[in-house]
Amino acid sequence: MTLTQTADLGETHRRRIRAERLTAHLGAELFDVDLAAVAADDTLFAELRGLLIEHKVLFVRDQRISRGDHVALARRFGDLEPHPVLVSDPDHPGLVRIYKDLDSPPEHFENAFHCDATWRNRPPFGSVLRCVDGPAVGGDTIWVDMVAAYAALPSDVKVRIDGLRARHSIEASFGAGMSAERRAELHETFPDAEHPVVRTHPETGEKILFVNSFATHLTNFHTPENVRFGYDYAPGAAELLQYLIRQASVPEFQVRWRWTPDSFAIWDNRCTQHYAVQDYWPAVRRMERAGIVGDRPY
Ligand code: SIN
Repeated sequence: MTLTQTADLGETHRRRIRAERLTAHLGAELFDVDLAAVAADDTLFAELRGLLIEHKVLFVRDQRISRGDHVALARRFGDLEPHPVLVSDPDHPGLVRIYKDLDSPPEHFENAFHCDATWRNRPPFGSVLRCVDGPAVGGDTIWVDMVAAYAALPSDVKVRIDGLRARHSIEASFGAGMSAERRAELHETFPDAEHPVVRTHPETGEKILFVNSFATHLTNFHTPENVRFGYDYAPGAAELLQYLIRQASVPEFQVRWRWTPDSFAIWDNRCTQHYAVQDYWPAVRRMERAGIVGDRPY
């Protein structure tokens, strides 16, 4: 145990959870921890929450806890929200099943760099994800530090994107494989959201590059400085947006986690993106995710 001072706990105390960093920017693996005990203990939870803010994504193996404890842990962070397209566990609303069985539809939603549900006005705070069952090799997930991605942008790009906003759409992502009627229905229930291209982390004050594969276009690019003729808008804004979205694929900002059954990842969705690698067919991969309601980006 190490003697440490943490702002979140507000007092000097002995850390009970051991965290080992996995990369220079983000990600830590936790040891000496039982997530069911964390869900039931205020001090342990405060420690875990502090570690999450520090490392952005936490990993822990060999947690043979119940679905009830999984949900209880996630609910410590906030209310859970179901997903409009993915089904939830029937006994645990908000515990979303991401099951890739041989007979499941060939959907490819997770293998694009994304921040969960930015098509909501209030995208999730974060998620608690468990590997129920997976391939012996393959099916890793990559997370990306979007604070580091923003910080590394060339300074002229930072100036160009200051104040820009982007549209995020469920229709262009989950809706893209649906019939026109079903897509229109989905879009009516979940109209596009607009968010700043650079958001501020509400707890750390850090700047975050906040566009991902749900972003369809920049909404306020059309100014006299950026556009002389209408033609300037189409390549100018689209290329800038694609350039920004591509930053998540830079390895320097990433951590890659190799799953084993009953391992968990807990991530801060406000400042990270992730990508689930789909290289394992015909093996099956079953994940369960508790997504936590977030706040409005600014
Ligand atoms: C997700 O995209 O939220 C799921 C990630 C995964 O299945 O590894």
